[in-house]
Amino acid sequence: MNATGAIQDHIPEKFDPAEVRNLFPALAREVYGKPLVYLDNAASSQKPQAVIDRLVRYYSSEHSNVHRGVHLLSREATDAYEAARKRVVAFINAPSEPEVLYTRGTTEGINLAASSFGPLHVGKGDVVLVSHMEHHSNIVPWQMLCETQGARVRAIPVSDTGEIIYEEFERLLSERVRLLAIAHVSNTLGTINPLKRMIRHAHDMGVPVVVDGAQAAPHMKIDVQELDCDFYAFSSHKMFGPTGIGILYAKAEHLETMPPWQGGGDMIETVAFEKTTYNDPPHKFEAGTPNIADVLGFASAIDFLEGVGQNRIAAYEQDLLAYATERLSEIEGVRLIGTATDKASVLSFLIGDIHPYDAGTILDRLGIAVRTGHHCTQPLMRRFDIPGTVRASFALYNTFDEVDALAAGVRRVKEMLG
Ligand code: ALA
Repeated sequence: MNATGAIQDHIPEKFDPAEVRNLFPALAREVYGKPLVYLDNAASSQKPQAVIDRLVRYYSSEHSNVHRGVHLLSREATDAYEAARKRVVAFINAPSEPEVLYTRGTTEGINLAASSFGPLHVGKGDVVLVSHMEHHSNIVPWQMLCETQGARVRAIPVSDTGEIIYEEFERLLSERVRLLAIAHVSNTLGTINPLKRMIRHAHDMGVPVVVDGAQAAPHMKIDVQELDCDFYAFSSHKMFGPTGIGILYAKAEHLETMPPWQGGGDMIETVAFEKTTYNDPPHKFEAGTPNIADVLGFASAIDFLEGVGQNRIAAYEQDLLAYATERLSEIEGVRLIGTATDKASVLSFLIGDIHPYDAGTILDRLGIAVRTGHHCTQPLMRRFDIPGTVRASFALYNTFDEVDALAAGVRRVKEMLG
């Protein structure tokens, strides 16, 4: 058994969504006496039993604080905690362990970058470039930075299909852009942005790039060296791991110059009232007792994802997306929002004039869990001049039958409210 648990033992040899479903106890439950059709994976995914077992095992027999004890339990917990970091390093192909910081999630990762790295690079009159499709968590931290620095946030426009208008991006880059903050995958539209090309372009102009990877990491292989991004933030809970834990990858050259953003235990080397000196990265950026249990659960989730095979997952999800797109497009009055060529398994739509909340409420009573509303992308909703969308987001455990259930549910919504 490795430090993160023997999750491979649970994974069927050949990827079969029906078998994979059995690994997720929550998917067996009913809602309103109907089988649960869980299509809200972009908000948060369900957890396989092995991840749940890992948390129970840790709290049952392994719990102790890390980096703080000579006793066996503390040393074991520290070893497991740091082994999990190595697991993440390999998962995203980071060059080294100090470049992988534990955070509470994507939002905290972006805030860390904005608070600590931001002021070193963004000054009066400068521009932080984001895109029009960003989640609020990749807009507001930059606005907060710009407010204190006398800088401003500008947004790259998106097309009617929900894609970055590349010429506009190039044009905006020639302004006083000091930082680009961009989603790898849009949580609302599913658009996969042409990140490698954008990063290359930004770097040509001397602009560092922060990537919001929350919606990409569950669906595709992430290689931070291939992307050559400066920062990459993502969350465990969207990739079958626990809530409250995430990662900020940051290039070593940045972490060396960045000041700590929170003070406390573990992030120091020496403390004196006259002067305190700081620990080396990653610990310099991890003040206080960390979320040990969820780090271990996250490593189990990574074992799960890699055990099933990220390429197999991506291929299956693409089939689901294509089928769902076809089934929903057949329904008169359904308008898809986000029709990019390159998409992850997210399907946002409107049903005639029916308000997304009303549609979502009826779908819920049919046992179908979708997200409705602005999806924390209010500027994007304004761009499309809509109040929100109904969003179905698929994971590896969803089935074609569930897509049929969604299509039937949408028809029922139309019958009731259309
Ligand atoms: N960012 C998550 C979503 O898109 C919560 O639903």
